[in-house]
Amino acid sequence: MSIAYFQEERIFKLNTKATSYIIGVIDEDNFLGHLYYGKKLRSHQVSYLGRINEHPFIPSKNNRDRVSFMDAFPTEFSSHGLGDFRESCISIRTEKGCSAIGFSYRSHEIINGKPELAGLPSARGTKESCDTLIITGIDEPTGIEMKLIYSVYKELDVITRSVKVINNSPSVCYLTKIFSACLDMDNQDFEAVTLHGSWARERHIEVAKLAHPKLSVESVRGESSHHDHPFMALKTRDANYDSGEIYAMHFVYSGNFKIQASLDQFGMVRMVCGIHPQDFCYRLEKGESFQAPEVVLTYTDQGFNGMSQTLHDLYRDHLINGIYKDKKRPILINNWEATYFDFDTEKLLAIAKDAALLGIEMLVMDDGWFGKRGSDNCALGDWTVNEEKLPGGLTYLVNEVNKLGLKFGIWFEPEMISPDSDLYRAHPDWAIAIQGRTAALCREQYVLDLSRPDVIDYIYESIAKILRSANIEYVKWDMNRPLADLGSAYLKPECMGELSHRFVLGMYELQERMMKEFPHILLENCSGGGGRFDPGMLYYSPQIWCSDDTDAIERLLIQEGTALIYPLSCIGAHVSTCPNHTVGRTTPFATRGLVALFGTFGYELDITQIPDEERMMIPEQTAMYHKYNDLIRTGDYYRIASYRENRFYDLAGVVSKDKSEALYIFIQVMGRPNHRSRIIKLKGLNPLFDYRIEESGEIIAGDSLLNGGFVIPQLNGDFQGKLIYLQKI
Ligand code: GLA
Repeated sequence: MSIAYFQEERIFKLNTKATSYIIGVIDEDNFLGHLYYGKKLRSHQVSYLGRINEHPFIPSKNNRDRVSFMDAFPTEFSSHGLGDFRESCISIRTEKGCSAIGFSYRSHEIINGKPELAGLPSARGTKESCDTLIITGIDEPTGIEMKLIYSVYKELDVITRSVKVINNSPSVCYLTKIFSACLDMDNQDFEAVTLHGSWARERHIEVAKLAHPKLSVESVRGESSHHDHPFMALKTRDANYDSGEIYAMHFVYSGNFKIQASLDQFGMVRMVCGIHPQDFCYRLEKGESFQAPEVVLTYTDQGFNGMSQTLHDLYRDHLINGIYKDKKRPILINNWEATYFDFDTEKLLAIAKDAALLGIEMLVMDDGWFGKRGSDNCALGDWTVNEEKLPGGLTYLVNEVNKLGLKFGIWFEPEMISPDSDLYRAHPDWAIAIQGRTAALCREQYVLDLSRPDVIDYIYESIAKILRSANIEYVKWDMNRPLADLGSAYLKPECMGELSHRFVLGMYELQERMMKEFPHILLENCSGGGGRFDPGMLYYSPQIWCSDDTDAIERLLIQEGTALIYPLSCIGAHVSTCPNHTVGRTTPFATRGLVALFGTFGYELDITQIPDEERMMIPEQTAMYHKYNDLIRTGDYYRIASYRENRFYDLAGVVSKDKSEALYIFIQVMGRPNHRSRIIKLKGLNPLFDYRIEESGEIIAGDSLLNGGFVIPQLNGDFQGKLIYLQKI
């Protein structure tokens, strides 16, 4: 068992492969204290870290200063309104109108395996991989119960946390705030690492020193967002790619979130993570419960690469699911940047024909195939084939594409409704809007009210009808606007604060149903590029479209931030045409291919129009994908240098678990005059192995490559790339 309870000392010790997490039950009031999280310890005897023998002392020794105790005690789950003035994890308004709530340990159970969270995505765990601790606490005066759920991965340095709140009080209450995890510890000169961005420049890495002003990342957009990412790591100042301590939280949820780190008067840090409390108010009748989403927690003393590898393993092995979990994905060509809305069967078949000849394996038909949609101002919700564009419908088109030897994929934006649609004309009350207010448009569309079971059923049936009608093997599920005007014609006023969360639950239900009925489909989530790239979505789809920005150089920054926490196998990346449609930059076709290789790899261009020299490179690139994808999908990721930091070149690599092969991609962003070659110390290799460099045939000892380095010749020009592949001899 990776979880032990020491009865005498009332201590829980949770052990992963290399970390320990220790919790203590303290004093007559049964406070639950956080004692330790970090490198694995031999002993559980760390009660002294709770520092209850110094001022302000525990209440049994100094009840006159109870508030001071509450405000200094390192807790597992911070209460609200009872003297702990730091960030609370929970707030519940009872019928008395008050919202103070405490947590007092009552009981616990330790089980083998990992229970699923009803209606929510969560990391998967078996009896072999996980044990789970459930600590039940109670707020005595109200009777409200809280279950803190900890699952411990035995072979991975990951602990997941979530909370379930049960209204065992005699009457209705309103949950107005619920965070899923809390981590109190002394500050170690921490810096916070977060991912920030906007449309077309998602997930750029930012580092900020932790000081007294609170530091938080959050979204109130109804989706995890392009702007902030539901992830935060606290790193010691000396932490770098390969060493140094990092504590990270990643939220398995796709809606509003908040992760905050704050420094208190005594130099202690509190990190919390959960659903954003803004506009959140969940009504719980007597006996009802609320399950909060899961937080992934990891600690490493192996720097960023250590953290990335742990999270990649967790998501590849325990979150991503379905038939493509461990499989190479078909190389697709998507017609969005090729045609936008201006396409028909003939045009698509012309693309498919050329694509088939060059080694591409699937055609994806993007936005514009349904209703009267000829631009982005109408028809969302009318999921019927536009036979003017596609004569003979999907059956004809898909058959023809299949005859060429290609699979066929399709685009949907199921959560949306255009005011100019048959659906809206029939059901205006299905859109999210506040009665008496004109709802604000975004991309000329509204969001459907997914708190309504009738809307869920309608959307599901209309999508499923299309998917049943032809041999469709891929779906791109898009979501192109945030939520605003939060009102539902269905929810009662006292439940209106549930809308954002119910929306997310409804979307999860739709994806769950779809993948159950169509398990053969490769699902790729998307949200105006990478606006909903989060672990919640990854539970349903093995890959997510990373950004609408397909420029190879912009992608270096976006993919670096994304790969910091997500495996390369899930990062949607395509070779597109130049000048790039988003930034207007022209980069070599080969470099575009190398950047997309460290992702899912595909194309998004009009293959019938590109220059011959580019077209002739496609068979080479598709062969490169087939040759290296197993390694890229399954290997350990190492960041070696970053264009973000040096403004000059970028270098990352993947090394197979057995260290028998490695692939590094070097991109020289800016050419420089009068330079020699560059020696770079490679990472991840076995010092005792000898490796053959594929390009030169040279054999070099592993320890020479690691400590002496590899010589990268000076490349001529900007935006040049080089692939370095080595194999153990
Ligand atoms: C979003 C996606 C694009 C494309 C368009 C279609 O912006 O990110 O890839 O599918 O929608 O409208």
